[in-house]
Amino acid sequence: MHDDTREITEIILAAGEKARRETKDEPDPVITRTVEWPLTCTVGPGLEGAIACESRIGYVNGAKGWLIYRGYDIFDLCANSTYEEVSYLLMYGVLPSAPQLAAYKKRLIGYRMLNKTLRLLMGFEVETMNAMSALRLGTNLMRQEFTVADQEEGKPGTGDAIGSDEDSIPMETAPRGEKKAIYEFNRPVIAEKEPGGMQSHDPSGLEACFHILSGVATITAAIGRVRQNRMPVEPDPELSHAANLLYMLSGRKPSPLEERIMDVALILHADHGMNASTFATMVVASTLSDIYLSVGAGIAALHGPLHGGANEEVIRTLMAIGDAKRVSAVLDEVLARKGRIPGFGHRVYKAYDPRARILGPLAQFLVEQKRRDKKPLFDIARELEREMTARLGAEKKIFPNVDFFSGIVYSCLDIAPDMFTTMFAVSRTAGWTARVMEYLQHNRIFRPRAMYIGEFNNTYVPLADRAG
Ligand code: SDX
Repeated sequence: MHDDTREITEIILAAGEKARRETKDEPDPVITRTVEWPLTCTVGPGLEGAIACESRIGYVNGAKGWLIYRGYDIFDLCANSTYEEVSYLLMYGVLPSAPQLAAYKKRLIGYRMLNKTLRLLMGFEVETMNAMSALRLGTNLMRQEFTVADQEEGKPGTGDAIGSDEDSIPMETAPRGEKKAIYEFNRPVIAEKEPGGMQSHDPSGLEACFHILSGVATITAAIGRVRQNRMPVEPDPELSHAANLLYMLSGRKPSPLEERIMDVALILHADHGMNASTFATMVVASTLSDIYLSVGAGIAALHGPLHGGANEEVIRTLMAIGDAKRVSAVLDEVLARKGRIPGFGHRVYKAYDPRARILGPLAQFLVEQKRRDKKPLFDIARELEREMTARLGAEKKIFPNVDFFSGIVYSCLDIAPDMFTTMFAVSRTAGWTARVMEYLQHNRIFRPRAMYIGEFNNTYVPLADRAG
């Protein structure tokens, strides 16, 4: 293991120790096993407290600051696992054997190539669209790649040069010394289906989930490149999911340290109970719509600044504060008008978000060891964390959440702020798809109620007789 990545593991284990030490006095939760429907629960606005279904996929305990995927503690997974292994665990419920992991990685790699989707997507003004809006469009376009068999005879050969007509998009591919740009990635290797596996025409099955896990990363990277006025970079089948994402975004192979940090960030964002975007994904899937359109709903929900969009808001807030000395005065002003500081507070966590417990020290390691240019931003964040925790921690149980430090980590990886939320989406495809597949096993369309507080017994008045 590379020295730097060994240090990352030590940082994560130390954060876990600190978390257990600081929350040991909180009572352990009463864990229930199964639910006897109908269930009585106390429900607040925004479905707070409502229990919508059973799940074995992930568990969040707000008092203890616990996050568990399929029974494994998030600190252990970040210290020892990879995003590929964790996404397998979330979907299948077990850690894969070596052959299972190798076969799974091969399937994911096979789905990285999205020739048709990118060609369709680049027909839109991606460079001026909001990145999450472009990602949602791209995810819907992916559906065509998978559910409509390509007309093989209509495809240009990869050796053909494509003129600069409006249908072609030049692509940077691994330098082959050719004189002419070709717009198609190498012919996609469609992963072999598992015996009895889902057929490609079925857009709501397991194979489509893996297509989405891989494809959303490729689409995100292509969007990031076009927004920098550069060409998309062809996926590299030799790289891990995290390394390939960074490579397709930047055009250069990441260092082992950058790969490890991106991988930990992907693990941390993979699943988080019935959050708004997961719930949105499941609601659409519960109508027996397909997984592409369901994940599109998840992307739409995640975009909001109360949810995944907060990571971009945090960086903009830190940059607006500009100096750690201004934190107190800015807080006075924002809190006086009941404003919200992005990256703080959580519907469930009334203790430190365990993901912030890992991302904070990782951000500190990066700014102190690798990216001193980002240290002023980190210093402002640390002062804001200190002030907010002092003012609202004990009283309102408001602490940093996953979005508070993630932006600093992404900035140290040279990811632009307007791409931060798409990083969240790339990772959360694992939780979205796993929970959809779990729920569809005992599907019932989601249909809550609204308490009608309107009028009754009104008499209809013809238009001619209405006043004004
Ligand atoms: C994510 O659900 C998930 O699991 C989400 C997520 C995931 O992994 O999927 O964890 C990812 O979305 C994290 C949250 C990212 N959002 C932000 O950082 C935006 C800022 N945070 C807030 O808007 C808020 O804390 C929420 C939306 C996260 C939670 O909102 P709630 O549970 O509805 O809380 P609330 O709005 O009812 O606030 C309760 C009190 C209020 O004060 P009072 O009216 O009681 O006096 O806490 C205050 C709020 O004013 N408060 C804040 C605050 N968050 C809550 N005050 C200042 N700054 C904040 N950030």
